[in-house]
Formats: sequence, C-alpha cells, structure tokens
Amino acid sequence: MIDEQNFKKILVPVDGSHSCLNAKMLASSIARKFKSKVTVVHVISHEFMHPELKAQYQLPPSILHRVDELYLQAGKKIIRNAEEMFREAKIDIDSRLVTYEDPAEFILQLVKDEGYDLVVIGNRAETQSERYSLGSVTEKVARHAECPVLIVKQKPKVEKILTAVDGSKHADKALEYAVQLANNYSANLALLHVEEDKLVRIGGPQVVDCVGTVGECILKDASTKAKGVSFDKFLKFGSPAEVIIKVAKKANVDIIVVGSRGLSSVRRYLLGSVSDDISMHAKSSVLIVR
Ligand SMILES: Nc1ncnc2c1ncn2[C@@H]1O[C@H](COP(=O)(O)OP(=O)(O)O)[C@@H](O)[C@H]1O
Ligand SMILES: [Mg+2]
Repeated sequence: MIDEQNFKKILVPVDGSHSCLNAKMLASSIARKFKSKVTVVHVISHEFMHPELKAQYQLPPSILHRVDELYLQAGKKIIRNAEEMFREAKIDIDSRLVTYEDPAEFILQLVKDEGYDLVVIGNRAETQSERYSLGSVTEKVARHAECPVLIVKQKPKVEKILTAVDGSKHADKALEYAVQLANNYSANLALLHVEEDKLVRIGGPQVVDCVGTVGECILKDASTKAKGVSFDKFLKFGSPAEVIIKVAKKANVDIIVVGSRGLSSVRRYLLGSVSDDISMHAKSSVLIVR
C-alpha cells in the first residue's frame, strides 16, 4: 500500500511562462496519481509597486491605477488558465491571486501558513535570461521552502527516476519519495551512489575496493528500501554532483530525487552543495526532499 501522505497538498506557483506549463502538467499528473489537492498561486509583482520609484518620479495616480488594472487582468487570466487545466483533469483545485513585492517571499510564507506537502515549480520565468540556470523565484523557493520542492525542467514524463544516495537520513527520505513515485508511475528507479575519488587519487587503483565497500553498503541498504519497484544500482567514483548530472543525462532520467542536505554537519546552509549543484545544472527535473 502506497503512503500517499507525501503528496496530499500541492502548491503550484504559476506565471504563464513555458516552463510553468511543464510544471502545471507534471503537477496535474502527480495530483491524478496521488489524488492530491492542488492550489495554484500567482503573485502580481512589478516595479511600479516600489515606493521609492513612486516617490522619486511622482507617478500620477491615474497611471498607477491603470498599471495595477493591467497587471490584475493579466494575473486573473493566468489563474483562470491554470484552474481550467486542472479542472479538466478532474483535480481538486483552489487558487490564490495576490499582489506582493517579492513573489518568493509570499510563496514561502504560504507554504508555512497552509502546510503544503510539495511545491511544483518551473525552472525559469518567461523573461528569465538563458544565462541563469534557475529563475530567481525558483531558486529562492527551492532553497528556503519548508517542504519538498520539485523543479520542473522538462516535459512531464515520469518513466525514469534517479535517486542519489549518500547514506544520510536526508537521502533516505529522498529515496522514500522516489520509491512512491516509481511505484505509482511504474517507473524505473536508478539508485546511485558516488564515492569521492579523493582517496583513490591518493592511494591509487588498489584502494578502489576498500573505498567501494562503503558505497556497496549504502547501495545495499537503499535496495532494501526500494523493494517492490524495478531498480538498478550504480556505484561510481568522482565528484558527486558532476557524476550524478552526467549519469542522469546519459540515462535520460526524468526526475532526479535528492535530499536537501546530506552528511555534512554544517547547518549554516539550507541546501547541501551537491543538491544545490544538481538543482542548478541538471537537465532533468529535480525533486529536493526535506
Ligand atoms: N556522494 C553522493 N552520492 C550520491 N548522492 C549524494 C552524494 N552526496 C550527496 N548526495 C545527494 O545529495 C543530497 C544532499 O547532499 P549534500 O549536498 O552533499 O549535502 P551536505 O552538504 O549536507 O552533505 C543527499 O541527500 C543525497 O541525495
Ligand atoms: Mg555531502
């Protein structure tokens, strides 16, 4: 029996961009599989709202009113489109349309106040330059949200899932999510552990076995938790984020599932460096579990 608690309430921030369309489609697919309740939120935010700008240029109220009205109409349309899409898929849908200076801040507060189980978000906004790997709202939400965040970067297909395991309890939790998704989608699951090759570089090929032993144990433990789904195990050597991204690309993985943190005991950072790198640079969609 699948525990569907992890996917009960899903929040989908929408902005009418292409990447947001993929996010809506994947959220809709997950919601159908897990019978989740979906809330879409659109935050209207623009530079005319900024008090400094208003004061400096003494913008006449009639202009401000018109700008507000245009943004409001556009926001309503974004919400209407999203609602329609989810309703057509017979999903229990609810929406929020607000005006707020910092969209990420509002989304993060909403997650806190309304207790979502998952945020499904596109990787970049319409206007976002290709130079940046993630949109600024996406980056902030992925880093600071109190719940798992799925960054959608591709068409919503869930046939191949990869979980990166490092033996930490965070990675264990990530694995739990990956198994639930694999189960519900009958997807293939790849369990990947990467051993840093530092020791191999120092000690030469003869220490590969001894370094690999730990990795074998981590993968064996992960395998017992992946019972019931079709999975493959991979033990690789190298720089973890780099290898995970490379393996996922080669295997055409749809979603990489990682823990927000790993084994490091430093609590200062909200995301570990491996999950940070993966969420920025992987071609696959990335589910960060916390
Ligand atoms: N060596 C590794 N092999 C496979 N997955 C890893 C490895 N290191 C980290 N991960 C994945 O990345 C997640 C975050 O870990 P990481 O970014 O290293 O955080 P920390 O800095 O706290 O160690 C882990 O929960 C795990 O899913
Ligand atoms: Mg680590």
